[in-house]
Parts: sequence; C-alpha cells; structure tokens
Amino acid sequence: MASASRGQWSGKLGFIMAASGSAIGLGNIWRFPYTAGENGGGAFVLLYLIFVALIGIPLVLAELSVGRETELNPAGAFEKLSPGSKWPWLGRLGVLTGFAILAFYAVIAGWTLWYLWEALTGAFSGEITPEVSAQMFTDMTSNPLLAIAFTAAFILLTIVIVQRGISAGIERTTKILMPLLLVILVVLAVRSVTLPGGMDGVKYLFTPDFSKIDFPVVMSAIGQALFSLSLGMGAMITYGSYFPKNENLPQSGIIVAFFDTAIAVLAGLIIFPALFSVGIAPDGGPGLVFIVLPTIFNSLPAGGLFAVAFYALLAIAALTSTISLLEVVVTYFIDEKQWPRKKASWVLGGLCFVVAIPSALAAGGSQFFTNFLGFGIDFLSLQNIFWGNYSLSIGAILLAVFVGWSWGAPKAIESLESSGIKFQGSGLWTVLIRYVCPVAIGIVLIYIIVTGQYF
Ligand code: TRP
Repeated sequence: MASASRGQWSGKLGFIMAASGSAIGLGNIWRFPYTAGENGGGAFVLLYLIFVALIGIPLVLAELSVGRETELNPAGAFEKLSPGSKWPWLGRLGVLTGFAILAFYAVIAGWTLWYLWEALTGAFSGEITPEVSAQMFTDMTSNPLLAIAFTAAFILLTIVIVQRGISAGIERTTKILMPLLLVILVVLAVRSVTLPGGMDGVKYLFTPDFSKIDFPVVMSAIGQALFSLSLGMGAMITYGSYFPKNENLPQSGIIVAFFDTAIAVLAGLIIFPALFSVGIAPDGGPGLVFIVLPTIFNSLPAGGLFAVAFYALLAIAALTSTISLLEVVVTYFIDEKQWPRKKASWVLGGLCFVVAIPSALAAGGSQFFTNFLGFGIDFLSLQNIFWGNYSLSIGAILLAVFVGWSWGAPKAIESLESSGIKFQGSGLWTVLIRYVCPVAIGIVLIYIIVTGQYF
C-alpha cells in the first residue's frame, strides 16, 4: 500500500506524543481515580501497575507490530498477514468499536468542556455543598440541548484536527497539548500534595492494604490497564501503521505505556490529597471529578485557578483520545474504501455525532434513554459496558492469540526489530503474549459475563 499517500509520523517523538495522547485520557484522570477510590486505593494501584507490565505493555507491542508490519488499518492489516482468513473480522470489529466508543466518550468529554466553561466564569468560586454540586451536575447533564451541543462541539474539535492528517493534524496538535498537559498536571499535583493533610491522600494511594484484594479488584485493575492503554480495538495498530520503519518500535511503545501509567498516578496525586485535605471519602464513584471536586475548590488556596486548570487538563486529555478513536475509523475508510481523508473525517465524525445523541440524552435529557427500555440502566452506561468492556476484552484476547500463535511471535519480533535494533525482552514477551494475556483477560471476560458486572 502506498505509504507516501497515507502519511507518517515525522519520527519517534511525534509517534510518542500522539500515542501517549491516545492512551492518556478520561481513563487516566476521570476513571482511574474513581476506580482506585472504589477499590481501596493502594492495593488496586499495585495490581494495576502489575497488569500494565504483564498485559498492557505486551499488548501495546503486539498491536504496534501488526500496524507497522502492514502499514494498514486493523482490517486491512489482518487481511495482509492472514489472507483469506476470518481474522479481518477482528479488525472490522475494532473499527466499529472505535466508532461506538467515540459515540459515548464524546458525551463525557463534552461535560469537561462545560465544566471548563463553568470554571472560567467563576461558577465554582463560592461555597458549594455536595447537594448543590450534585444539582449542578444533573442540571447540566439532563439539559438535552446543552448535552447535545457540547457533544457536538467536542466531535467538531476532533474532526477539525483529524481531517488535517497525521503529521499536520494529529502530531502537531499533540506535540503542543501533551507537554501542556504534563505541566498542568505537575503543578496541580504539587499544589495538592502540599495541602494540609494532603499526605494522607498520598498514603492512601501508595499503601497497599492486601486485605482489600479480591476477585473484582483484580478484574477492575486488568480492565483499567486495557482501557487506559487504548488496547483491544486496533488504535495502536492504526498508530503503529504510521510508524517510520527506521525507528526503534519496542522502545517507543514502552515509553508510551510508561507515560500513560505515570499520568494516571499523577492524576491520583491531584485528586486524593485534595479529597483527604478536606475530609471527603474517596469512594464517590464516577461523579468524583465532576461532583466531588467542585465542593473543594473553594477551600483550596487559588481554588478558582485550580478549577480552570483541572478541567482544561481533562478536556485536553479527552481530545487527544477522541482524535485517536476517530482516526481508527478514518484510516479504515482511507485504506479500504479509498475515501479522501477530509471526506472520511467529516462524514464519519458527523455520523458519530448522530449516533452519540442517545448517549447525550442518557443522563436525564430523555427518560427513554436514561432508563433504557425500562432496564434501569442508562444508554451511555450500556454502551460503555458493551463496547468499552466486552468488545475490548474480546478484541484483546483475540489479538494476543493472533500475534502469539497465528501470525506467530517470531514474525512479530522480526517486525519489532525491523529498525535493526534488537528487542531485548523478546523471550519474556513471547511468554506473556502467548499465555499470560489470553488467560488473564479470558478470566476477566468470563467473570464479567457470569456476574454481569463490568469493570
Ligand atoms: N485510553 C483512552 C483513555 O484513557 C481512551 C481511548 C482512546 C481508548 N482510544 C481508545 C480506549 C481505544 C480503548 C480503546 O481515556
């Protein structure tokens, strides 16, 4: 396939910024803290770190090798490596999953824009009780027009960047946004850790209480590792397909995984010390950053600034992730249907907005989607479970089987070494991708199917 017309990252750094941008998102700053808070803190964090090493990094390298070897979208990549087989369906499932995840992720991303707006206009400056904060959240999410408008705005931002292409659009944007994000994070973490009583939050995050570890905590940690590293639907295949042949791929992949993990921990260092400092319990669930944090800005020195910086951070992190989700779909249409990039970006982004509307209405905007079909679950959560949990875990297991056994670990290693630089951990990687990844994720999948509980 003509790689010249597809575009390429300008080099290792461009790839690292873009791929870290994909990995680092709401998963790190919104999902990781509340999941850690619900699962007992330190013990969860320890497990999460272990699974990033044992499952996350091997899968990142597996996806990247498939992409780089074929220089194609996920479906085209499997077709090229295994012609005439059923494997391309795994790629198509991935593309569909990317589209579907974007269609609910953009709704939550839209909330971050709204909260940024609120922070900028001083809505968090006075004293805010938990009740008032919860009410603010509901007023926003249950306003149908507002929810749809902010979803639209977020998808629009995403389209505008993706349509400009790999190096001029995605790489250029992430090269600005990622360093900015890191600066905001570090400043906020320092501010938070040095609050009176802040060290208790640090202890909570890093002192594992092993009595807290049970089956669901293990499962949550695996699920968090997969979601946070953008694994299981070919995002890393797609980003790997734009990776220059002469650069060191394993090293770049490991750096991305390291950044992603470090940023999750940093986000924890912002949220938990702030919570402990004002004596709020860390197990507030998904509302943690939207409902709990606004109640504490007022009691923090320079709280107004803290609020603006925090929601800007959240919006930036979300944007570099939605870019990667749309890019997977756009790349597929460029490679397989020969659509021009601009057409693919606008048509598929526009379509995604339409599909996102039910999710935007699922937090009170419409009774039908809030209590979907009377099942007592909202449409957005349903999408999250179906695509974000089931589809990603199935995708991750099958990918490990494909790379470890079907295409074969030796060929993948050859591809990982195609820059001429030896991949030091190749023996260990082979064991992890062949046995540990499919078995561990398989257990997760069986667990969530049997219990009906998502991560
Ligand atoms: N990893 C991103 C986050 O942490 C979300 C994301 C982007 C993603 N692309 C993905 C998740 C692909 C799964 C698959 O927010």
